[in-house]
Amino acid sequence: MEFERILFKDKIGREIVIRAYENKDHEALVDMYTNYSPEDRSLGLPPVGRKAIENWISYLEKRGFSIVAEHNNKIVGHLAIVEDEKDPKVVDLAIYLAKEYQNQGIGTQMVKAIIDLAKKRGYKKITLVTDRLNWRAIRVYKKCGFNTVLASYELYMELPLNS
Ligand SMILES: CC(C)(COP(=O)(O)OP(=O)(O)OC[C@H]1O[C@@H](n2cnc3c(N)ncnc32)[C@H](O)[C@@H]1OP(=O)(O)O)[C@@H](O)C(=O)NCCC(=O)NCCS
Repeated sequence: MEFERILFKDKIGREIVIRAYENKDHEALVDMYTNYSPEDRSLGLPPVGRKAIENWISYLEKRGFSIVAEHNNKIVGHLAIVEDEKDPKVVDLAIYLAKEYQNQGIGTQMVKAIIDLAKKRGYKKITLVTDRLNWRAIRVYKKCGFNTVLASYELYMELPLNS
């Protein structure tokens, strides 16, 4: 099942494309993360340092499926899902937007788009972990239907899918 490209305007009118990540995007994505604001890292991700970021992106290329948000041909956001090692019908989600593109509706669009794809691909659940104080992320996940399954310093959330 292919990911269908989405074109939309964010809350301040920028034309944003959401599309599947391709291996040719590797360098551009590594660049986005190399310049990533330290305060927007969450639970140790994205990794710090070019080599560690490259290794992480290579891991996601092999083990996961990613979509990116683009503005003026520049990658400004990335969402990845990776199949659970114990249950390949479950995928774990991570998402990071560049600072100037946060809080403009792009994250919500990307999460909704991956939920649609995951349903079409027959996955039964999406899981994620976030910091319990990451209110914006939590707001997006709740808006998209995720429930909290365990709350401690981290918040474990999941969305069962009825595909
Ligand atoms: C978390 C993230 C992916 C969300 O994507 P986004 O595009 O910024 O989010 P959106 O603009 O789609 O939606 C944000 C929602 O949170 C709300 N919000 C913003 N700041 C908030 C706050 N401090 N407390 C509660 N809600 C907040 C917004 O009002 C909006 O809700 P609404 O649409 O009902 O008005 C993005 O901000 C990001 O990349 N953050 C840094 C990295 C990160 O934390 N990733 C998640 C790791 S688990």
